[in-house]
Amino acid sequence: MPITTCVFDAYGTLFDVAAAARQAASEPGFEALADTWPALAEHWRQKQLQYTWLRAITNAHTNFWQVTQDGLDWALEKTGLHGEAALRERLLALYWELRCYDEVPAMLAALKAKGMQTAILSNGSPDMLQGAVSSAGIGDVLDDCLSVESVGIFKPDDRVYDLVGQRFGCARDSVLFVSSNGWDAAGAAGYGFDTVWVNRAAEPVDRLPVRPNHQMPDLTGIPALARG
Ligand code: LAC
Repeated sequence: MPITTCVFDAYGTLFDVAAAARQAASEPGFEALADTWPALAEHWRQKQLQYTWLRAITNAHTNFWQVTQDGLDWALEKTGLHGEAALRERLLALYWELRCYDEVPAMLAALKAKGMQTAILSNGSPDMLQGAVSSAGIGDVLDDCLSVESVGIFKPDDRVYDLVGQRFGCARDSVLFVSSNGWDAAGAAGYGFDTVWVNRAAEPVDRLPVRPNHQMPDLTGIPALARG
């Protein structure tokens, strides 16, 4: 079926989640991060995601801002930075204004020029997504930001992917779903979306029951793939 709707994961796909720790490491007062920021960023991200999965399977939902803070607290303790209150506050503030990857604005504009509907579908809470979208200046090339908060469970639960059809009235196979998270791309492919895994770090594919239909090193090839 022709693609009518292009839907993007937010964190890690459009927005660079390592940017908060990288940026803080370059600021005066946070010299302790000079060598440790990559490890801190990695631990933060992995714990944040693990907490979403664990909360989903134990019926203990909370919003993404809470798991973002919980993941950071674990990561700060793991890297010996627990108790650095100013650093914690700065990292959390930076999470609301993560940079988008360089190719994102032109890629979204090209999709809109082709007449595609465009949206974010994210674990992020609506206010977090709004902050990131407006600081990246991409609000005018997105038709909507769909958040798991309207169904109260995190990805990859099917009820999250259902939000796309509910919003746009489109069939599953007319949706091109794009994620840099292998497990999210696998979940969306199993759901029936045409799916792209954006594999910036050239990682092995996840050993899950369904594999993404396409793999790309970044987002520049998305408009050519989205054929109406
Ligand atoms: C999101 C997380 C998975 O934006 O990155 O949904």
